[in-house]
Amino acid sequence: MKTMQWTVDAKKDLSTNYSQISQAAQLLQKNEVVAFPTETVYGLGANAMSTEAVMKIYEAKGRPSDNPLIVHISKIEDLERFTENIQPYAEELIKSFWPGPLTIVVPCKQGKLSTKVTAGLDTVAVRMPSHPVAMEIIKQSGLPIAAPSANLSGKPSPTKAVHVLNDLDGKIAGIIDGGPTGVGLESTVVSCIGEAPVILRPGGITKEELERVAGPVRMDEALTDERKAPISPGMKYRHYAPVAPLTIVDGRPEQIQELADRYRQEGLRVGILTTKERESVYNASSVKSCGSRSKLDTVAYSLYDTLRSFDDDELDILLAESFPDEGVGKAIMNRLLKAAGNKMLQL
Ligand code: TXA
Ligand code: MG
Repeated sequence: MKTMQWTVDAKKDLSTNYSQISQAAQLLQKNEVVAFPTETVYGLGANAMSTEAVMKIYEAKGRPSDNPLIVHISKIEDLERFTENIQPYAEELIKSFWPGPLTIVVPCKQGKLSTKVTAGLDTVAVRMPSHPVAMEIIKQSGLPIAAPSANLSGKPSPTKAVHVLNDLDGKIAGIIDGGPTGVGLESTVVSCIGEAPVILRPGGITKEELERVAGPVRMDEALTDERKAPISPGMKYRHYAPVAPLTIVDGRPEQIQELADRYRQEGLRVGILTTKERESVYNASSVKSCGSRSKLDTVAYSLYDTLRSFDDDELDILLAESFPDEGVGKAIMNRLLKAAGNKMLQL
């Protein structure tokens, strides 16, 4: 299949991009899949009411079909079309964080969405993105849009259109290139089923921010205890992984360099994922910075792009520094641990 491509300038008045976005929206109405930018990562959208359309997402990504999708909406009224019994604290979260990088899991009305969206669960994940292009394509389609990240299953999520094309060119009907995405990591997924919110996947909106609005918030135990089954089916898979096997190393730069030297003596090509502050202290086949340690949102912004860029360096092993487990650092460490298949060395 030929993948249609449109380039839009998200900073300009959207009316200049109107015809491109409406062509893409028409493909969605025809039950085709289209990739578009959101403020977190690029999404791969399809009509959430059509099983035919939703199956095309799973096929293009090679995604396990027991992993449900997030439904994206552009206005609050759309929520009532397919959800019910929303808890008061969930309403508060919506008021404070929508549109934006927060996904809420709420009870699903039966018979409104394709059962392939929810993978048979009686709950559904919903979010209202704040990216103007995402908003506009959803609005113009007039549909609830199911959209996972627009990468091949297991790869890092795409933060640029070129990442989407590397993974999915020829497998999807179209892509809107709206430039690099803002947050760089996927939305925070919060279960709003029980009496209090539970974070199922950490993201750009932190636990502290949620608590200011909704009172005490728990983290799903499976996020910190490997033996527990996660509530979010998607969290059980290895994910976000670069080609070279990745190990997170919690230690001083000298110790990480020593480890890298040992691998090099064995004839292996070693890559090191670091930050601006320490980039010059390392010596390895490939050393890359993914932002500044003193501003963790810059690390979130560049992490996936940097992980993907190591794939061109034909490495045998990749070592990543670790990050503090607080604020957006929680989301960064969650994605790095997934990418590493939980391999972490404490030096
Ligand atoms: O930022 C984002 O959330 C991006 C952009 C495109 O919106 N989307 C995204 O979707 O990251 P995806 O499919 O890559 O991740 C969705 C996560 C998965 O971990 C999935 O298991 C979980 O949400 N999820 C979806 N429906 C759920 C449900 N009913 N209950 C629990 N977890 C659910
Ligand atoms: Mg994903």
